[in-house]
Amino acid sequence: MELNIAVMVSGNGTNLQSIIDAINKNEIKSKIRLIISNNKDAYGLKRGNDNNINSIYISKKQFKDISDYENNLLNLYKKNKIDLIILAGYLDIISNRIIEKYENKIVNIHPSLIPSFCGKKYYGIKVHEKALEYGVKITGATTHFVNEGIDTGSIIMQEAIPVEEKITAENLQKEVLKIEHKILVETIKLIEDDKVNYNKNTLYN
Ligand code: GRF
Repeated sequence: MELNIAVMVSGNGTNLQSIIDAINKNEIKSKIRLIISNNKDAYGLKRGNDNNINSIYISKKQFKDISDYENNLLNLYKKNKIDLIILAGYLDIISNRIIEKYENKIVNIHPSLIPSFCGKKYYGIKVHEKALEYGVKITGATTHFVNEGIDTGSIIMQEAIPVEEKITAENLQKEVLKIEHKILVETIKLIEDDKVNYNKNTLYN
């Protein structure tokens, strides 16, 4: 089924771009109705504007309190009939009130094989630095549903890659990012095709 997607970004937005490209190539049926960033300089907002997608900078600082901020987000999701929220490098916490209202409708992409190298403080290049420090022989990316924890929701999809000898954290990040782009689009396809089995830990058949 065609989903109305909201994408939350904080930075470069290459994961967002992978969804835009997949839509333009008709690989996925869904449409991005809304892009929100908590960083007014996020390149992801420019990617949205360049593709004529409603792209908005929203910061908690703009509201009198957290409840007002949450109301604003919820109203935007409702007004755009959002069925699926994608956290694509979104470096802020989604409040429990939104998680409860969009249970199993918020997906995060994380640049490691959860439960390794995830949780508080594990974001961006740090994830890859820690993986190299530990000496792992494989790493990869994970998509998962968002719950009240950090990177603790049910895993939807993972894909692993070997960690080459002497690779730098920067180059490992680039390799993993390619996997992120791939499994994020495949995850959206799974959800569109209703192939996610919400009753099991392994959420797809
Ligand atoms: C990606 O590595 C993502 O997994 C992580 O932050 C990075 C964002 O990249 N959460 P981009 O903004 O999508 O290019």
